[in-house]
Amino acid sequence: MRILVTGGAGFIGSNLVAHLLAHGAERVVVLDALTYAGNLQNLAPVQADPRYRFVKGSILDQALVAELLESERLDTVANLAAESHVDRSIRGPEAFVETNVTGTLRMLEAARSYVEAHPALRDRFRYLQVSTDEVFGTLAADDPKFCETTPYAPNSPYAASKAGADHLVRAWHETFGLNTLISNCSNNYGPYQFPEKLIPLVLNNALSGKPLPIYGDGQQVRDWLHVGDHCEALASILARGAPGETYAIGGDAERTNLEVVGTICDLLDRHRPKNAGSYREQIAFVKDRPGHDRRYAIDARKLARELGWSPSRSFTQGIEDTVLWYLDHGDWVRDVTSGAYRDWVAEHYA
Ligand code: NAD
Ligand code: DAU
Repeated sequence: MRILVTGGAGFIGSNLVAHLLAHGAERVVVLDALTYAGNLQNLAPVQADPRYRFVKGSILDQALVAELLESERLDTVANLAAESHVDRSIRGPEAFVETNVTGTLRMLEAARSYVEAHPALRDRFRYLQVSTDEVFGTLAADDPKFCETTPYAPNSPYAASKAGADHLVRAWHETFGLNTLISNCSNNYGPYQFPEKLIPLVLNNALSGKPLPIYGDGQQVRDWLHVGDHCEALASILARGAPGETYAIGGDAERTNLEVVGTICDLLDRHRPKNAGSYREQIAFVKDRPGHDRRYAIDARKLARELGWSPSRSFTQGIEDTVLWYLDHGDWVRDVTSGAYRDWVAEHYA
């Protein structure tokens, strides 16, 4: 596999790059614009690998994408580059449409021209769009889980932009015959997640003695998947997924937000006890997110049946490993929580 990973300096992208290199990829080229969410330190573990190359640039730059496909003789694309934080999409939707929709259009067009110029590559070429379960909207407590045939009903600007991108990908397969794949995954957690998302934000705030903000009543449910399991699923889809198909990926680990935050507090109480009291005392209920989806849950049986994938880490083990990783990587947290991060936190949680 000679692959272009866009968004490879972000949370999932950097974990995927390490996974692909550890599992025999011939060439891994990362294209990342290094927005506030992208960090070259996330790629430090692979930077000495001669099969790896980093290019700073945007997926909106179609000429650059085309040049990379051509000069590196790539046969695979995994598009992870995106604006990914729901709260930011509520404050400023424009960047989400620009990067997630127009950026995907440019990626698809670059891939289409490249494959048309190299007919011998046509059957082998794969374009994977890494999407989200949020495109399906929200579930009531007793609804069946989302699966590949669930109709799209996005509720946030972020989810709508990801849904728009997925529709483009589908059309480029149907109309132009591009060998596309789409994955719709549930909430990830693990190393290198930017501390604007619930789990690393709570860890960071807990250790800094700050409030642990719970939106609304904290009874919203997410289906948590360790990023390492997500990367294994993506690798299986790239290797054996059928062109034009969609695969739902989930952790089979539904938890309310309050349960997740309570678990983190208990783990910190064990591994980094305070002088007095529990981290649970820092929990603070705050104003709810507008349009907040109540429950996400994924039925990943297609992936198990067709590609033999299922998650290998329990949430209990994965969250403890993650807490320990953040405790061991205080330098990383300090480096990524720069001025821009502090500005976001001050504005959003004011
Ligand atoms: P992230 O925000 O940590 O990383 C996104 C990366 O994309 C960053 O490195 C950023 O610099 C880069 N980027 C942004 N705009 C770019 C542009 N125009 N050109 C090139 N690079 C650009 O996000 P993440 O959590 O790692 O998510 C990666 C992908 O997976 C996203 O597409 C997201 O929608 C999807 N996803 C995420 C989750 C999750 O729980 N985090 C779950 C399902 C799907
Ligand atoms: O489901 C997959 C999606 O998961 C991805 O597509 C997104 O890129 C990713 O950001 C994530 O979206 P969520 O909105 O579910 O994740 P977030 O970590 O922002 O929030 C998780 C839950 O916790 C959600 O119900 C909102 C709540 N929350 C979040 C924050 C940041 C709080 O209660 N307090 C907070 O401060």
